[in-house]
Parts: sequence; C-alpha cells; structure tokens
Amino acid sequence: MSNVRAEIERKTPGSKRAHERSLEVLGQLAVGTLAMPYPIYIRESRGSRVTDVDGNEYIDLALGFGPHILGHAPGVVVDAVKDAAERGFQWALHNPYQEHLARLIVEAVPCADKVEFCNTGTEATMFAIRAARAYTRRDKIAMFDGGYHGAHDYVMVRAAAGSPHDAPTFNTVGDGIPKATLQNTIMLPYRSRKAFDLIRTHKDELALVLIEPVQSSNPRLDHVEWLRELREVCRESGVLFLMDEIITGFRLAYGGAQELFDITPDLATYGKVMGGGLPIGAIAGRADIMDVFSRGAASPETFTRGGPRLPGVFAAGTFGGNPISMVAGTAALTYLRDHPESYKYLAEQSMRLANEVNRFCQSEEIPAQLMSALSMFFMRIQRGGPIQSARDIDPSLKAADDAFFMHLLNNGVVIPGIHQFHISTAHTPKDIDFVIEAMKHSFLEVRKEGLL
Ligand SMILES: Cc1ncc(COP(=O)(O)O)c(C=O)c1O
Repeated sequence: MSNVRAEIERKTPGSKRAHERSLEVLGQLAVGTLAMPYPIYIRESRGSRVTDVDGNEYIDLALGFGPHILGHAPGVVVDAVKDAAERGFQWALHNPYQEHLARLIVEAVPCADKVEFCNTGTEATMFAIRAARAYTRRDKIAMFDGGYHGAHDYVMVRAAAGSPHDAPTFNTVGDGIPKATLQNTIMLPYRSRKAFDLIRTHKDELALVLIEPVQSSNPRLDHVEWLRELREVCRESGVLFLMDEIITGFRLAYGGAQELFDITPDLATYGKVMGGGLPIGAIAGRADIMDVFSRGAASPETFTRGGPRLPGVFAAGTFGGNPISMVAGTAALTYLRDHPESYKYLAEQSMRLANEVNRFCQSEEIPAQLMSALSMFFMRIQRGGPIQSARDIDPSLKAADDAFFMHLLNNGVVIPGIHQFHISTAHTPKDIDFVIEAMKHSFLEVRKEGLL
C-alpha cells in the first residue's frame, strides 16, 4: 500500500467503517458516479469546507457536482428552506413558488419565454428531447463527442475511442441501453466544421441538436465563433438548437452561456445552481415550442392511464416543482441577481488558480493541464498538452494521475475522480491560495514517488 493511502487510512477509520457498512446494502458504491480518490464519508458541510465522519476538514472543490455556487449551506438558502419546510414539503398541486422561480429564469435567460420544472438535469434533457420530437415530428437527435446530458437512454451514447475526430463513430454507454438509441442519434464532431455538414445532410430527420455550451470534460472559451455558427446552421436547417446549461446556467454568468456568448438557442435545460443545492431540473424555451407541454393539459382525460392518446408532451413527476426546491432556487438566484460582483470574484479567483497551477507545471515540466472556463475546471496529468476532446486522454500516466488526487486529498482538498471541479463565492482568496499550494505540493510528492 502506498504511504499516502496508509496515511489517509490512519486519519479516517470512521470512513473505512462507513464504507464497509455501505457496501453491504448499497447497490452502487455509495454514490456510484462519485469515484473518489479514496472513499471518505462526509458528515457535514459549510461554506468552502466539508467535514468527514472522523472530523477531518477539507476544502471542497466537488461542490456537489456544481450546484453550490454560493458554497455549502449558504444562509440565504438555509433560511428559505427552513421556512418552507414548516409549511409542508410537497403537494403535487399548483403552488405560487414555481412562478417565483420561473419568473427569475424568464428574466435572466434570453431564450426563456416559459419554463417547465422537473427534479434533475437528466429529466430536463429527457423532456426537452421529447418536446423537440413532438414539435418537429422528427425522431433523431444530434449530440457532440465529449458531451454529457444526463443518464437516460436517449443520450447514453459516447464516441468510440480511436475513431476519427471529424467523423466519430459511437456506442451506447454501459449495459442495458437499447441499440435502437444509436439509430436515433447522430454523433457530431466537437469544434469541427464537419458538424455543420452533418446537420445540413440530416436536417429532414433531425429534431434537435444538443450541446453543452462549455463541455465539463473539456472546459474552454476558445470556441465561441464556432458555437455562433452552429446556432446559425441549425436555424437555417430548421433543426431546433438546445443549449444544455445544467452546469453553465447561472454559473458562467447570471444569464449563463447564453448571456456570456450572446447566443440564443430555441431551448435550454437547467439544474444544479438553479436549485440552490436542492434537486431540480428545468426546461426553458421559446413559447411556441414550450406550448407542447401544455397542449391538451386542460382536459382531464389527457393524463388518464389507458385513456385516449395523450395530445401533449407528458412531462410530469411526483416531486417536479416541489416547494422546497422552488424556494431554495429562488433564494439562490435572487442573491446572485442582486450580487453581480459574485461573477467578477469567481472569474478573478478562477483565473488566478488556473494561471498559477499551469505556470508551476510548466516550470517544473510536469505534464498536467488545468483546463478552465471561468469557474469550471478539469485537471488531469497526461502528456500532449491540453486535450482537444475528452477522448484524447492519454492513459499512460494514470498511476501518477490517481496518486495526485490521493495526495491532494491527504493535503486537504477534495476533487472527485472525474477530474471536474468548481469554485464558489465561499472560497476565499486564502482558500484558493491553499488549493494552489496543495496542488503544487501534491505534484512534487507524485514526482518523489517516481511516478512522473
Ligand atoms: C451538462 C449536463 N447535463 C445533464 C446533466 C444531468 O443532470 P443530473 O445529474 O441532475 O441528472 C449533467 C450532470 O452533471 C450535466 O453536467
């Protein structure tokens, strides 16, 4: 066992016990997607910190996979949630709290005439795709190499490693996804003009082109002209264009990537920051498209099981639009709207973090890049400079990469094993200094182990 692993184990006997107990009863390893460098178990969180069950405190850059732009448990959200919880959790009945949050979104987001709420980003992209298919009466969707749009079958496809960049072939992700998914999908090359040709060629069968305006696995800001052209190609081709702003929404700017890049799609999906840290998803878009959700909704037989064919798009869920998520989101967005300096602060600290770490890696000849787009980051030890696509990852330094994140954890900074991280307004300049020093120190420790 490496020294660093042994050191972490010594500090975290409670996490070890919690992990063993979890393995007995949980289907996935606690939270299956959260591949941690080492499974510490978190007891509580506040601001920029999480505390594990043994009482060790860490600076957290996982930030719940992105929602906590104001840090953990910010006072404005906690107060709103406490107050709402006193009044009841969930009614599955009309309530005014949905309108409050929807109005903030409509005011902030260029493409949003109307909003439909659900519980997760996965549901948001699933319902948005269904809406696009209903509106255009076409079945195919196109998405980009390296993109992620949630865990439902429609989008569980991935470009095949080693296939050409300009013409990626693709497969379903994991087991259990029907092969029919492939027939309804076109995989487009990211940041390539070849994507435009493919959209034009398939325009009569394509309902929708979806894109993360900044890919979380490849965060960068040098593709804006290409994105603008992509938007125009979709418009000319009569194919709907969706920006999946589940990470970028209310993070890159208050109006998300749409505001930052000045690009208005037909539809957009939201989650994460918009819920103030509680489960949420939303679809926002042009009124004529969004109307597919309410077509026929007034008639009681619309939702009768086994009744007549549903005339509109079915997008219901027991917890969709629940008042707790609504008030949490409203509190977070109201704060962000009223504190635009938050975005300036995040940009300054993000730039400082990326520049200092990258300068250090260059001067020490460490083959690592901290890629970033404002407060979205992706860090990996690998040769060959910044990646062009998430598929370019060179696995030959995997042992060094794994060791780096383990050392970083031991040095008091949490980044999940998916290599993506964020910062929040609760991360003080001192916290950012701490992260920079912890990263530098961890690189040197990996080198000392002979892995670099
Ligand atoms: C761009 C994007 N779309 C969709 C999703 C799915 O959201 P959720 O995890 O809330 O289902 C994610 C989650 O990370 C995401 O980053």
